[in-house]
Order: sequence, then structure tokens, then C-alpha cells
Amino acid sequence: MHLGWFTNYLPPSWKAEFSGRAADTWMSGDFHVNLARRLEEARFDYLLLEDSSYVSNTYGGSFELELQQVVRAPKNDPMPLAAAIARETRHLGLVVTANTTFYPPFLLARLIRTLDHLSRGRAGWNVVTGAPDQALANFGIRDDALRDGVSAHDLRYDMAEEFVDLVVRLWESWEEDAVVADRATGTYVDAAKVRTVDFEGKWYSSRGPLNSPPSPQYRPVICQAGGSARGRAFAGRHADTVVALPKGVEQMRAHVDDVRRAAEAAGRDPAACKVLFIVTPTIAETDAEARASRDRQFARRDERALRRLAMMSGGGVDWSGYDLDAPLPALAQDGQSTTAEFARRHAGKTFRDALAEDQTESVELVGSPDTVAAQMVEALEATGGDGFLFYSGSGELTMRFVDEVVDGVVPALQRAGHARREYSATTLAGHLGDGA
Ligand SMILES: Cc1cc2nc3c(=O)[nH]c(=O)nc-3n(C[C@H](O)[C@H](O)[C@H](O)COP(=O)(O)O)c2cc1C
Repeated sequence: MHLGWFTNYLPPSWKAEFSGRAADTWMSGDFHVNLARRLEEARFDYLLLEDSSYVSNTYGGSFELELQQVVRAPKNDPMPLAAAIARETRHLGLVVTANTTFYPPFLLARLIRTLDHLSRGRAGWNVVTGAPDQALANFGIRDDALRDGVSAHDLRYDMAEEFVDLVVRLWESWEEDAVVADRATGTYVDAAKVRTVDFEGKWYSSRGPLNSPPSPQYRPVICQAGGSARGRAFAGRHADTVVALPKGVEQMRAHVDDVRRAAEAAGRDPAACKVLFIVTPTIAETDAEARASRDRQFARRDERALRRLAMMSGGGVDWSGYDLDAPLPALAQDGQSTTAEFARRHAGKTFRDALAEDQTESVELVGSPDTVAAQMVEALEATGGDGFLFYSGSGELTMRFVDEVVDGVVPALQRAGHARREYSATTLAGHLGDGA
């Protein structure tokens, strides 16, 4: 079973019980370095750092809730954080989110390759394409064709296909053994092994070659998040690993099948793309205690509901005006599969009920470490998926939850022979390929 952790470079839980000093230590990166060390102790495949680049005032026309409740901001750039973590760890994969709408391909190819050097072969790029208006405005992008909407959604995926092709060609613009460091001839790089790419696409062009030399993985790991049909097809063609958030066993199985089919159609080994589901287990000493803890979380659902509404408003629809006790309105497809899917799934329910039922996880895991481990194994057997990404909800991460997973669930998985006890590789591609 492959294991990852999904989080972001914003404040972890800062005011709840067991938040500790996270509010003071997150900005320096110390919190995340500690997290990474713990994950490495548990022999995780990777830490994935999510990202976004705007402060939204869509909800109620104000930044207030967004900032007061740490919905999406404050958030720092994950790229330097990953570099800092790389220096403090030896094995853990480091996957960084970068949006194809906001990066030039050359810059991105160089950043990820540099991270692959700094981490000695543990870098991954999580490809996302979303383009909320307010993020576009931050980058000064005035192209209306890219604004969230059904056709823009697919257009951005078309562009992402070309973007990835170019990035891979830039990585390949140096042959793997181009650096010879030959003292006898005084040659550091064999220039015959470095070529321009002369890429002229519909949206992007680049001369190349990259000026960064081949890194330990040569082609760093590509990860994909985004559950639309286009997203799954994209993942099948390009991704080595997928962050998936389908809800329930049936959808999980469909997600895996879609990605594997797309991989096969692209001439790839369908098993080579590792699909990991997002989960937020509730763990305690006994199953009964874990269920009681889940019930207590449920009782606090209103505060979380508000944050969910503000989070969803980032997609461009102002959800502040909706009465929590009124039936969910019919939602115009706004190009964000998660929001449209939310409205579809809960048609007819009140907002309050819909939000309470709509956990941001693929499958509910509740119980003692052994029970949760068994539930995870069962979910993979039923769906054909490859593993899980633990996620605590944006802004809700505590080291206590990390400890429950790392010291409780992972040892239970190891005892049952479902998680690695030792790394057999030093690169992220190696971890993903080791049959864990
Ligand atoms: C589990 C998961 C994680 C995601 N992480 C990010 C992220 O870190 N940054 C981002 O801009 N979008 C993120 N997204 C959103 C989509 O990946 C992005 O907007 C996408 O490219 C279009 O999504 P779609 O295929 O679901 O329509 C995430 C989506 C899912 C389901």
C-alpha cells in the first residue's frame, strides 16, 4: 500500500485543543519539517504540498471570513518549503503543486529539476489547472477564455497537455550522461549531449535546452489532482501518481478504472500510475472511543460548514447568501467539478445536511489503529486503488493526528504486511515502483 500525506503551507490548527505552538512555528517551516520527519519514520512514499495563489473575497464580497478562519490564506509558496524539507530528510518524496495557468513551462521545468537535485531524486510536480478569476487577476492574466467555465475548463486541460509535453522535452534536452566532468579533456559537460528543443506549440514555445543538468530521477515524478473526466484522462496519459477524492467505493472504483483505461490507451502500463485516495481517519484506542470522537466532531459541524462554504466560494460563486436550512439550489455548472459534483450529489437536501454529510474524504475510516488499517485494506481490495493520502482538512492539522497515523495506523498496517517497514529505494519514483 502506498502512503502519502496531503497538506499545504498555511497555518495548521492554531486554536483548537492540541494545536500546540503551531500558530507560531508554521511560517518558519519548522512545523512542516517535523511533519516530514515523522512521515519518513513511518516510511511514507511522499508529502504532497497543495497550493493556491489568491485571497478570495467572493464569499460575501469580503476577505473577512477567508482570513479570520484561515480558509485559503495566509499561505506561503510550497516550492522553497519543499527545498527546506529536502535538506532535513533523506527518503521522503516531496510533491509540490504548480498550476499550468500561472507558470511558464521553462521556469517550472527548471524549478522541479532543481528540487530533484536538492532532494537527491525525491521531487514530484502536482499538475493543476484551475484558474479562479482572482488568481488570474493576481497574475495580470486578462484572457477571458481561461476564466472558470465549462469550455475554459477543457481549454486549460488542452493547454496543460502541451505544457507537460514541453516540460518533459526540456528535461530530456540533456541526455542522462551529459555531465562527464572529464579532467583529462577539461570538459565538464559533453555539448553533443545537450540539444535545443525548438518547441512551437499552439500555446507555448521554447527554444531550450534547459540550463539545469539531469537530476537523479531525470524525469521527476508527475502527479495529478482533479477528478473531472478530462482530469482522469490527463492522469492516465501523464501521471505517475494521482490524488483522488471520489466519494464512496463505487466512485473510487470508477476513478481507478478511468485512469487505468486512459493509461492503457496511451500505451502505458496501467499499473504504473498509482492512485491514492484522500482520507481523514478518526482514530482512538478502541472502536467505541473513535466513534464517540467522530460524533463529537459531527456536533461541531456548523463552524466547519461555514469554512466549507467560504472554501467553495473560491470557485467564483458567492455561497454566503444561501440559507443553510433551505434546499440546495440547482447549480449552474461552473467548471469546478468538485462544486458541481457537490450540488449534484445532494440535490434536494438542505445546505446544512449536505455539508454535514459531505466529508472531504473518499471513504470513512473510524476505529482503533487495527480497525482503521483493516478498513483501508478492504477499501483498496474493493476498488483496485493503490493507497491513501492522509488529510486533516485545510487549517485543521495537528501533530496529534500525525502521531495517531504514524504511531498507530502505520504500525498496524506494517504488522499486517500492507505497508513497508523499510525503504527499498532512495527516489520517489523508486518508492512508487517498489510494489509496496
Ligand atoms: C484532491 C484534490 C486536490 C487538489 N489540489 C489542488 C491544489 O493544490 N491546487 C489547485 O489549484 N487545485 C487543486 N485541485 C483542483 C483541481 O486539481 C484543479 O482545479 C484541476 O486541475 C481541475 O479540476 P477537475 O479536473 O477536478 O475539474 C485539487 C483537486 C482535488 C480533487
